[in-house]
Amino acid sequence: MNIRKGVICDLTSIINIEKAVYNKPYWNVAMLKKLFIDSVIETVWVIENQKKIIGFLIEQRCDNEINLLNVAIDRPFQNKGIGKKLINHYLDLISGNCSVFLEVNKTNIIARKIYADLNFKNIGMRKNYYNDGCDALLMKYTK
Ligand SMILES: CC(C)(COP(=O)(O)OP(=O)(O)OC[C@H]1O[C@@H](n2cnc3c(N)ncnc32)[C@H](O)[C@@H]1OP(=O)(O)O)[C@@H](O)C(=O)NCCC(=O)NCCS
Repeated sequence: MNIRKGVICDLTSIINIEKAVYNKPYWNVAMLKKLFIDSVIETVWVIENQKKIIGFLIEQRCDNEINLLNVAIDRPFQNKGIGKKLINHYLDLISGNCSVFLEVNKTNIIARKIYADLNFKNIGMRKNYYNDGCDALLMKYTK
């Protein structure tokens, strides 16, 4: 398996995963296109299996502060340790003085387990954060 920075040619694979894993996908083609073409603070990382993209992570970085905007693993590859591997590898890549923040749906037990295992700490909650009315937990990782 290979982890690398995503490029605009990866857009279709990324959007297909976004659509497959979320009931109400947030990212669409226009948003991702804009990210790849215009954004200097956002980066997509992809994980490949035999040259096929099977997951991705989107970061937003301002100096030493990083927000993880999205992490997703394609359905057939879920629950095989790949999501944890991608996030862990990403945390290895970032420099030593960074803090990483994210929001995770309180009901997303699997994602919460991964973040807790990788030493993200709960630092707050955003009530009714998601469009289904669910709360978000705010988590922080300090390297
Ligand atoms: C969240 C997501 C990225 C995790 O990726 P993944 O590759 O499936 O996860 P992993 O296999 O690396 O790890 C899953 C962990 O949850 C555990 N787990 C699986 N089902 C579980 C359950 N029902 N209850 C508790 N733990 C569970 C697994 O045992 C594993 O823990 P382990 O490392 O101790 O064995 C993936 O499920 C996904 O894309 N979900 C949809 C998008 C999403 O919710 N993204 C997160 C946004 S914050």
